[in-house]
Amino acid sequence: MSTVFADFKKLTSHAKDYGFVFQSSEIYDGLSAAYDYGPLGVLLKNNLKEYWWRSMVQLHDNIVGLDAAIFMHPKTWKASGHVDAFNDPLVDNKLSKKRYRADVLIEDHVAKIEGKLNKEIAKAKKRFGDAFDEAEFRATNGNVKRYLGQMDEINQRLATAMTDGNMEELRQMLIDLEIKDPESGAADWTDVRQFNLMFSTQLGNIAGEEGKLYLRPETAQGIFVNFLNVQKSTRQKLPFGIAQIGKAFRNEIVARQFIFRMREFEQMEMQFFIQPGTQKEWYNKWKETRMKWHLALGHPAEKLRFHDHDNLAHYADAAVDIQFDFPFGFKELEGIHSRTDFDLGAHMELSGKKMTYHDPETKESYVPYVLETSIGADRLFLATMSHALRTEQVPGQDDPTNVRDVMKLHPALAPIKAAIMPLKRNKPEIVKVAKDIFNDLRFRFDVQYDDTGAIGKLYRRQDAVGTPFCITVDFDTIEEGENKGTVTVRDRDTLEQTRIKIEDLAAFIGPKVDMGALLAAAQ
Ligand code: GAP
Repeated sequence: MSTVFADFKKLTSHAKDYGFVFQSSEIYDGLSAAYDYGPLGVLLKNNLKEYWWRSMVQLHDNIVGLDAAIFMHPKTWKASGHVDAFNDPLVDNKLSKKRYRADVLIEDHVAKIEGKLNKEIAKAKKRFGDAFDEAEFRATNGNVKRYLGQMDEINQRLATAMTDGNMEELRQMLIDLEIKDPESGAADWTDVRQFNLMFSTQLGNIAGEEGKLYLRPETAQGIFVNFLNVQKSTRQKLPFGIAQIGKAFRNEIVARQFIFRMREFEQMEMQFFIQPGTQKEWYNKWKETRMKWHLALGHPAEKLRFHDHDNLAHYADAAVDIQFDFPFGFKELEGIHSRTDFDLGAHMELSGKKMTYHDPETKESYVPYVLETSIGADRLFLATMSHALRTEQVPGQDDPTNVRDVMKLHPALAPIKAAIMPLKRNKPEIVKVAKDIFNDLRFRFDVQYDDTGAIGKLYRRQDAVGTPFCITVDFDTIEEGENKGTVTVRDRDTLEQTRIKIEDLAAFIGPKVDMGALLAAAQ
């Protein structure tokens, strides 16, 4: 058996069974689009956030960190355009009474055409073997050309309708493309209406509109309003960046696909402040830097791609997504946006406070332009887990039915770096040594002591959660002989077992689980 990557169903049940992700408030039948990270999930998520933070803040002299409040003055969201323009176009199906995003229904229709196109290509690949030239096939095959033409036309029409906020046109597209309700199969649609995605709440001591607060829909605005505080207090010169990790909230209507689209999620955003006119150069630079960062994580190049935005957000003059091939297809993982001086300019206008930077070299004052990189920590978690989790034939075994589930996470990201196990749990001398090792290593790494079953079973459990090393204390460890004072260290990926002196364990494991190597690969 070759390696089989987990499908979406397997991934979600694995995430629950092993304590990575749980449905929020499950005992009350759950709250949709809200999830809780379990004991192993929180460790993996923290490691991913650390990888992002260190590669941004620790490794760039000109990027500094920030942790802004979730609540901001309500005028923030007026200036940023979110009160007026942060909308999704919603449509109801009259028969099923289900509510959808009209643009997502149209995008799903395009994805179906793309599916047909990919099938055509796969068929031809099989037929022509090594002689197959995909570029030529795409340019010449009648069916493929037709599908490409259809996709192009629909995407163009959708982009124009979205940019113009033309809800009638979106409804017309549903009718023209004969798009049906995915649940009921009916095509009886209401008008399409704009729906603002921000959650609001009320300040305790001020009634009415005056006291209305929003839960931030992006972390970026906390950075913009602090631009001068940070610049002055850190004496940074342009270009420089501010990085932040924090929660964001959106009243998503199409909230499905597990932690891919949630109402409460975490963003890792970096705003890079630059001189106007240099945005194209920085846009390309950050595209390249961010792709390298993803590849260093161990995600293969064929699972990542750039996707230019057809429909630009109200603040951007250029935007691209880094898409990942999730178990349900290529979808946005990260956005890179050239935000011009839109945000700083708007805050300057509404607050009446200067947001200009005095350039000591050119002696000019100007509102900086901004290049933003924005990635969801939860989507990164999903991407990482979906690529890591697989079923494979046990290495070194001839029997193809002898398989195991294994999470091939980079050791620096693994929730547990090493599991320590006594070969016999009813042998006090062995148990004592194992516990001593655990109590020593826990000062350095996230380690686990486990004596709850037979050793083979314990190994399989650690494979399934991605633990790169299993340390076993056996009879040789305690008995007189050349192996006294040594333990076996089993490698998750090769299953090779190496005998190591107990006092050398930290030095053996340390460099392999250190984030330094991962960070260096991303440079
Ligand atoms: N500040 C720019 C901004 O917020 P965005 O493309 O709307 O841009 C950036 O969001 C990233 O945040 C996305 O690429 C995605 O990874 C993540 N994200 C957005 N909405 C999300 C949701 N509902 N659930 C989980 N992650 C989400």
